[in-house]
Amino acid sequence: MTYRTKKEIFAHNERWIKEQLENDPEYFNKLSERQIPNYLFISCSDSRLSTDKLMYAEPGDVFIHRNIGNVISVTYLNVLSVINYAVVHLEVKHIIVCGHYGCGAIKTAITTTDVGILNPWLGNVRDVYRLHREELEAIKSIDDRVDRLVELNVIEQCVNLVRVLDVQKALLDKKLEIEAWVFDMKTGKLIDLGFDNEKMIMEIIDNYNLN
Ligand code: CO
Repeated sequence: MTYRTKKEIFAHNERWIKEQLENDPEYFNKLSERQIPNYLFISCSDSRLSTDKLMYAEPGDVFIHRNIGNVISVTYLNVLSVINYAVVHLEVKHIIVCGHYGCGAIKTAITTTDVGILNPWLGNVRDVYRLHREELEAIKSIDDRVDRLVELNVIEQCVNLVRVLDVQKALLDKKLEIEAWVFDMKTGKLIDLGFDNEKMIMEIIDNYNLN
């Protein structure tokens, strides 16, 4: 792991400005005009998950929301505001929910009982466990069970996305697609879980139709 002092960070900033201006003297003028990102990226706060690296992204490409365990709670004003702004105002074309194997939040949710302030938050992950208890408890290795719950949590958070009115409208208008991804830190690989938008919309909208 690298530790950089504040001085080093500011020195790097100066170097970066110089490099950008050498490549394009208008770089910061263009950057400051407006943002037109095509993606909303929702992931875990884990420090090893680097959005820039994973998305191969430049400043201005990706609108981001991160929290512990990449949870999309439909009563959580923070994430709902981000989704609303991204879908309605920025008109992003994709919402990506990206978890990661070995996620500490997921492991904590199923192996520890009292986690203080995290109890209500990780309760969202425990709900996912309850929905898929049979499948998960058939997996003997705790690490494998955690990794499967990581995948199921991403899928269930995508389902929660479909429960949000702005998202429903954009999906039905075919202006938006939801993506379910997992990052494997052991290999560096990004894995597409293949969230079937059409199928999920048809299944979910019966229960949660807000239109
Ligand atoms: Co995590």
